[in-house]
Amino acid sequence: MSIWWAATLDVPLIHLADAMDALTALGAAGVEWEDGEPVRAPFTDEAFSPEGVFARAYYPDDGRGEDRRRTLEAWAADHGGRLRYERRTETEWESSWRQYYRPIRPGVRFWVVPAWEADPEGVAGGDILRLDPGMAFGTGTHPSTAMMMRLGEKMIGGGERWLDVGTGSGILALMAWKMGAEVTAVEPDSTAARVAVENFERHEAHIALTVGTVRELPSGPPRDGILANLTVDLLKSELPAFLPRIRPGARLIFSGIVQEREAEIWELARGAGLHAVDRLTEGAWTAIAFVWDAEGT
Ligand SMILES: C[S@@+](CC[C@H](N)C(=O)[O-])C[C@H]1O[C@@H](n2cnc3c(N)ncnc32)[C@H](O)[C@@H]1O
Repeated sequence: MSIWWAATLDVPLIHLADAMDALTALGAAGVEWEDGEPVRAPFTDEAFSPEGVFARAYYPDDGRGEDRRRTLEAWAADHGGRLRYERRTETEWESSWRQYYRPIRPGVRFWVVPAWEADPEGVAGGDILRLDPGMAFGTGTHPSTAMMMRLGEKMIGGGERWLDVGTGSGILALMAWKMGAEVTAVEPDSTAARVAVENFERHEAHIALTVGTVRELPSGPPRDGILANLTVDLLKSELPAFLPRIRPGARLIFSGIVQEREAEIWELARGAGLHAVDRLTEGAWTAIAFVWDAEGT
């Protein structure tokens, strides 16, 4: 049975991106965040301040647990936050959040249904994404994912080629595939990648997954669109790798943008020739859809 350490930094919103960086610097392959809605994430039985958010990472039981705890405790004290550091087995993790996970409809068309639940009544099979997110991000309950789904439902067309960057559970890749797109996905976290592949197999979906970032993606035909629910910092660092993969006029849907840092995305977009065509906000989060004007860079 695999053992994990779950390190959760509860921080004021302004420090969310820094908290994610602090967790990543200690060797986490992926970091998830939440703004206090006790729906998706495990271990959310404690109360959060209304402005508070948390960033959480999982670390293998590799003997460095106490060092990590000390480093993160000091970081939390410096940033007006606090650390929760918990030892979990994969089984405990799964059973603790499963009880909160119910069929939901994040957008207009698709229902996201836990793999172990019955289909919602009266919903056509083509409109159901059946997921077991395991330890990966992407249940559909987080606003950043839900807004991706709302924008994707409007913008993805059958027969197009879409790339899902940071697929997590595979939720967005599956939505695009259900809409008739040819989909490829990348995910650097090997645990999440395994979960995504299982979810793709559950749908018998032909979605090629690269374990890595867009830089490791084998070259292929230019894409018509990119789905990227990342963070402001990752969007900034990864966008240069996106542009060689898309055709002029391609659509890019970005989410995971903390509103306090939205201006940085507008600046990034201006520099890259991205023109906004839609924007959604929910809670502390923003998602923006762009069209790429290759001439306008
Ligand atoms: C917020 S989750 C999004 C999951 C899912 N696509 C969704 O919308 O719910 C971000 C994902 O990006 C992955 N990721 C982290 N760094 C990345 C990078 N440099 N390139 C691509 N994906 C990355 C994380 O492991 C994580 O699974």
